[in-house]
Amino acid sequence: MFEGGFILSSEVNLKEAGKQKIEWARNRMPVLESISKRWSQEKPLAGVKVGACLHVTSKTANLLITLIDGGADVSLCGSNPLSTQDDVAKALNEVYGVPTYAKRGEDKESFYNRILTVLDMKPDITVDDGADLINTLHSERTELLKNVLGGTEETTTGVTRLKAMAKDNRLNYPVIAVNDAMTKHMFDNRYGTGQSTIDGLMRATNYLLAGAKFVVVGYGWCGRGVAKDAKGLGARVTVVEVDPVRALEASLDGFDVKSMDRAAAKADFIVTTTGNKNVVDKHHLEQIKDGCILSNAGHFNVEINIEALEEMSNGKQTVRKDVEEYQLNNGKKVYTIGEGRLVNLSAGEGHPADVMDMSFSNQALSVEYIAKGDHNLKNDVYSVPKHIDESIAKLKLEAMGMELERLTSEQVEYLNSWKIGT
Ligand code: ADE
Repeated sequence: MFEGGFILSSEVNLKEAGKQKIEWARNRMPVLESISKRWSQEKPLAGVKVGACLHVTSKTANLLITLIDGGADVSLCGSNPLSTQDDVAKALNEVYGVPTYAKRGEDKESFYNRILTVLDMKPDITVDDGADLINTLHSERTELLKNVLGGTEETTTGVTRLKAMAKDNRLNYPVIAVNDAMTKHMFDNRYGTGQSTIDGLMRATNYLLAGAKFVVVGYGWCGRGVAKDAKGLGARVTVVEVDPVRALEASLDGFDVKSMDRAAAKADFIVTTTGNKNVVDKHHLEQIKDGCILSNAGHFNVEINIEALEEMSNGKQTVRKDVEEYQLNNGKKVYTIGEGRLVNLSAGEGHPADVMDMSFSNQALSVEYIAKGDHNLKNDVYSVPKHIDESIAKLKLEAMGMELERLTSEQVEYLNSWKIGT
């Protein structure tokens, strides 16, 4: 931004801060770095247009830089109105030459307009986190569908949406479910969501977790991570789960397992991780304890019934950065973090680069796989090829200084034999 011919120093600082953040994250993304090195020589994406709709963070910046190293033309918009890091967006635009359309706190209309702007590049490949880009392409820009080779999807919620589209025969090109790779969900969803959710809660509230009654709703990979890390900090964790096997797992992992009604009434903190709607609903809100902190770590802001909360309240104000206070008609006060949007990205910086290294290496190699085109993919949702998943695990282990043991030929023979018994 220019004023009277001078660049405002705050703008320079924003750009510099973004650049530093991107470089800092890069230090912990060795697998992506090795892909960048290979791609800088081979240019497997030369001439390929990649449109991406992702959380605009320092880690995402490194994915986009890698795609450019591979020869791609890229365009990026945000995948959530509250997850964009404005300094990173500015550095991407002005330092790294990545056209980036995202601003923290934008309204719904502007958010969807930026998705349309990315689609204006007529992408050959789409990269999504939550399936908003694919969805908009299939509903508002159908004339572009014939050009698209394929897409990738980052998150559980996006994969669920895409599988529903494929089931209804409404998906017009193949999509790789990056979330389903082992080197994605076992690490990003569990350790990434675990740490970044706690980080977001601590930054937003500065409250003590030790001894707090902490309720985790959902015991999928994200819920497992949040529960483990809250327990690690001394919280008294209760898990709410609808699946009997997962509920049993939570119990044997050492957590109390209770119904939502019972858990909600006692909670100091509630974190939702289900990907489902209104898991904290009106009747739970009616029982909630004075001072309870409500937060969501699922992709969309649908898990806490905010509409009911508004109806039950006679006042609302922002009392700290990213913390909204609701004054309930029953005299109690409850708090939401980041309007019930992803707590780890609205109040924190998202997952650590160390895990996004694996997630985004899966993204990068899946984009290369689609671009190569030597596959027989139909208009359906596919897993990341196993050889890609395993290669990422090996590279990550190596970068961490860990060693993999090898089977001897005698052991291979033993495992393949059905004749050898006692
Ligand atoms: N940073 C970039 N993308 C992210 C994601 N999907 N989850 C958490 N942090 C991120």
